[in-house]
Amino acid sequence: MDYKNLIQRIENRIKQQSVGEGSGHDWWHIDRVRKLALTLARTERADAGITELAALLHDVADWKFQNGDQTETEIVRTLLQEEGADEDIIERVSTIVTGVSFKGVGVATPMESIEGKVVQDADRLDAIGAIGIARTFAYGGHVGQSLHDPTQKPQEHASFEEYKNNKTTTINHFYEKLLLLKDRLQTDSARRLAEHRHQYMEQFLDEFYNEWEGKV
Ligand code: NI
Repeated sequence: MDYKNLIQRIENRIKQQSVGEGSGHDWWHIDRVRKLALTLARTERADAGITELAALLHDVADWKFQNGDQTETEIVRTLLQEEGADEDIIERVSTIVTGVSFKGVGVATPMESIEGKVVQDADRLDAIGAIGIARTFAYGGHVGQSLHDPTQKPQEHASFEEYKNNKTTTINHFYEKLLLLKDRLQTDSARRLAEHRHQYMEQFLDEFYNEWEGKV
């Protein structure tokens, strides 16, 4: 199996599909997750080829954008089959992609393989820190939610349905997801990187509330 060639072809397919996507899941998100996942893969001794393929495909059928009846697993399988991947690779990569998405605070999303863990951690790291803040506001604008409303309190979602259907504000999204992510990472390498990104978000929120109250 010529990994390099397969990765290149999958990259081209994904690029075509995701360039210019406006809600923070565009090609550059995928490219950042790929780089970060490969960085984590080196320290965690994960297989680089599987990691890279799964990172490239991790948002391919994201529930926020999905149309049609094909399941996530089917979309990934079809793509990899069309590009001539071996069954073993298809199996490993589609299992990871299916398990990657965040489905709400009370919903566990266990990841068994180390490649799955680094891809999920990389995806979560890209949701926090300076880039996380930027993406959150971009997504908020995309779905038309307000920046902040002090009368609306953050919610804890017990199920994926609740999380998906929730109307929230962008600031509440920090409490419903972003600030929880550092404790939901699965590798030590990711936990180390998350520390700084997490502090940066807390600092941002302090500034935001101070400005909101006209204090600074
Ligand atoms: Ni993603």
